[in-house]
Amino acid sequence: MHEKKWVIGTEVMRGNIWETQWLTVSITVTVTAISISAYVLKRKWNHLNSKIEELEASLKSCSDKCASERQGRIRAQLALRKQVTQSQPKSQNLNLTSYPMIPIGVVHSCFSTRNGTPRQPLLVPLARACLVFNTTRVPPASLEGLAEYSHCWILYVFHLNTDLEKLWKHPSKSGFKAKVRVPRLKGGRKGLFATRSPHRPCPIGLTVAKVEAVLGNMILLSGVDLVDGTPVLDIKPYLPYCDSIQEAAVPNWLMEDNLLSVASISFSDHFTSALEDCWIMAEKKSLYASTSEFQSLIKQVLSWDIRSLSQRNRPHDTLLKKENDELLGNTSDVDEHQEETTLVREREQNALNSNEIIYHLILEGLDVSYRIDHDGYVIVEKISTSDVQDNKPNFCNYLTWKDKMQ
Ligand SMILES: *[C@@H]1O[C@H](CO)[C@@H](O)[C@H](O)[C@H]1NC(C)=O
Ligand SMILES: *[C@@H]1O[C@H](CO)[C@@H](O)[C@H](O)[C@H]1NC(C)=O
Ligand SMILES: *[C@@H]1O[C@H](CO)[C@@H](O)[C@H](O)[C@H]1NC(C)=O
Repeated sequence: MHEKKWVIGTEVMRGNIWETQWLTVSITVTVTAISISAYVLKRKWNHLNSKIEELEASLKSCSDKCASERQGRIRAQLALRKQVTQSQPKSQNLNLTSYPMIPIGVVHSCFSTRNGTPRQPLLVPLARACLVFNTTRVPPASLEGLAEYSHCWILYVFHLNTDLEKLWKHPSKSGFKAKVRVPRLKGGRKGLFATRSPHRPCPIGLTVAKVEAVLGNMILLSGVDLVDGTPVLDIKPYLPYCDSIQEAAVPNWLMEDNLLSVASISFSDHFTSALEDCWIMAEKKSLYASTSEFQSLIKQVLSWDIRSLSQRNRPHDTLLKKENDELLGNTSDVDEHQEETTLVREREQNALNSNEIIYHLILEGLDVSYRIDHDGYVIVEKISTSDVQDNKPNFCNYLTWKDKMQ
């Protein structure tokens, strides 16, 4: 019994020894394997590290090279600009202060002439325009994403300023006026930059409009205060969180009669049939769906008194004393601006009552004639085709935009 127990005990011991040896061997093998892989990994790591360093160095040298190339390019551009401006005719007086800004597009709006074009943006919600970009200068892809904004800023050229030519001259000869007559101050003058006069050293206008739709290289805008044919320099999205200033202040003189609204607007009995007659021709090119929509446009435009101050105060005098609304540095300028100012074409020579004067508003080449009395009651008398062409291209019409409009 004893012996048997011993034998069993020895076998157990032998088994344990064998297992221990086996364990030792396998641990040794494992440790060796780990050491070998660690060695291999370390080599790999070192190799990767040096590769990264190498790449970093080459990237740095690339960007250094790029930066110096950029420096060189800027230097070359400056030199080129200097050359170009020096080679300009002396008379043009262009030098390093001239920059390459050429219009990128044209506005085709419902306002055929400056008369009746609203003085501020968004006053006439139905005032539509099609802004067509020159695809050579602006690929349609540049407009991607613009339709997601409700409004955009538009920088444009006051291309109908009759004194534009003067701006090519040397400042001392351009006859440029530092102060302009402000209609609201009854002829009182303010510094040019305290007004939005179109007659500025750089004849650039800034306005805001509603973005209705974007189609290829065109934008449909509404609420515009731009005359047909206006060249556009740039557009930018309107950002309400930084572009709208709640606490902004304006001078008191602006408050006086800023927005002159009229008392009422009515249409003569035969206006509707006259509009139907005109519409047969006008419809194809119109930005409006129907005669009734066009009539709403007329109503919106005329709901602001678009006459100049002198036309309002001295209706009998308007043909003799042609005066521009927003501008006029001096009475000597008056004749040069006459076409922007003459609302009145027909007039009874001795009329003293504004009620007897017929004013004209040209929308999409249609001549809308109306009277306005002292109390601001407007009667739209007639509508007829005018000798002012509607220069909008055929594709700037309602049909083009129909499916894009709400
Ligand atoms: C640029 O033109 C103005 C006037 O036209 C002149 O006074 C000025 O010196 C000119 N500048 C250069 C760098 O030629
Ligand atoms: C478009 O721009 C190009 C390059 O400036 C010009 O040559 C071309 O006359 C422009 N086209 C129109 C329709 O203005
Ligand atoms: C306005 O023109 C008159 C001459 O018609 C001139 O005497 C006057 O100095 C001018 N005023 C200004 C501010 O240019």
